[in-house]
Order: sequence, then structure tokens, then C-alpha cells
Amino acid sequence: MNPKIDPDLCIGCALCAEICPEVFEMGDDGLAHVIEGGNCEEAGCCQEAADSCPTEAITF
Ligand code: F3S
Repeated sequence: MNPKIDPDLCIGCALCAEICPEVFEMGDDGLAHVIEGGNCEEAGCCQEAADSCPTEAITF
């Protein structure tokens, strides 16, 4: 699973970074970003983060 965040959809609600801080972080631009080397398999929280995103900005 290789997560991607669509910057046109992300509204910066930060839920993904809250739910899955091993993989997602908030940038200075106010949008979420995938942490370099973020490992969904290891973290085990990517799907939950994607399901919780209000704009469905996270895809795999
Ligand atoms: Fe953006 Fe969705 Fe995360 S709106 S901050 S990608 S939960």
C-alpha cells in the first residue's frame, strides 16, 4: 500500500496525521503529506486514516 494525498482534495483537517502519525504529517502548507518512507504495512493505520478523511483525499 503506497498512500497518496490529493492536494486538491485535502482541506487540512489533520485527522490522518492524528490517526496514523507514523505515515502522515501536516506540512507548513497546511496540507497533509506522506512521511518519507511511510510504511502502511508496518503502521497498520493507513486504511483507517483514509476511511476517516472527510474528503477522501487519501488513495493507495
Ligand atoms: Fe487532508 Fe484528509 Fe488528512 S483532509 S489532512 S488528507 S484526513
